[in-house]
Amino acid sequence: MNQVLENILSRRSVRDYKPEQIPKESLEQILLAGRYAASGWNKQLWKFVAIQDRTVLDSVDRALKQSILNVDSKGIGDYYLKSLQRMAKSDYDLFYGAPTLVIIADTPNNDVAREDCALAAGNMMLMATELNIGSCWLNQLVNFSKAPEVRALFSKLGIPENYEIYSSVALGYATRDFKKIAHRKDDVATII
Ligand SMILES: Cc1cc2nc3c(=O)[nH]c(=O)nc-3n(C[C@H](O)[C@H](O)[C@H](O)COP(=O)(O)O)c2cc1C
Repeated sequence: MNQVLENILSRRSVRDYKPEQIPKESLEQILLAGRYAASGWNKQLWKFVAIQDRTVLDSVDRALKQSILNVDSKGIGDYYLKSLQRMAKSDYDLFYGAPTLVIIADTPNNDVAREDCALAAGNMMLMATELNIGSCWLNQLVNFSKAPEVRALFSKLGIPENYEIYSSVALGYATRDFKKIAHRKDDVATII
């Protein structure tokens, strides 16, 4: 099968990672794949921050948990928030134990920031698949991008103060085989 299609078909969201770190060259290739995603007017206003330092990862996890616990439920479904808050109170790792987390940020002044960042994240996840590295889009940092506890980390992470987080991608080796394909609808495409 064509390699690109094979990667697309075999990519799975991995939600349990080994502590073993991914090689630097692999991370560089994954970031390169992100940089070569299409972007509106080719502006490439995104910033990718790959965190591999366990202390920094833990501080992001802590800030995210604090912001989840401090939130008033406005805009977030009650059920979703309650389950998040249960996790935030425990020592559960919101990043599934992934040794690498790539945060993808952009300026809200970019009309297509969300689209640009999603394409970059998609490229990164496919490149990871090619390298037998597991990945998963994690949306909590996106949901809590405006929370003061998360924003307090921006300068430490090298994210400009006026930016927002549009995606984050966990990377690492899966603890088990996640290859079983998630259900895909077969009635969404029309050829005319
Ligand atoms: C915008 C977006 C947000 C997502 N947020 C999360 C998330 O917060 N946590 C998670 O475990 N998976 C998240 N996912 C992964 C989806 O649940 C997953 O892609 C979907 O169930 C299909 O499974 P597959 O990726 O294994 O094919 C997200 C995916 C997308 C595209």
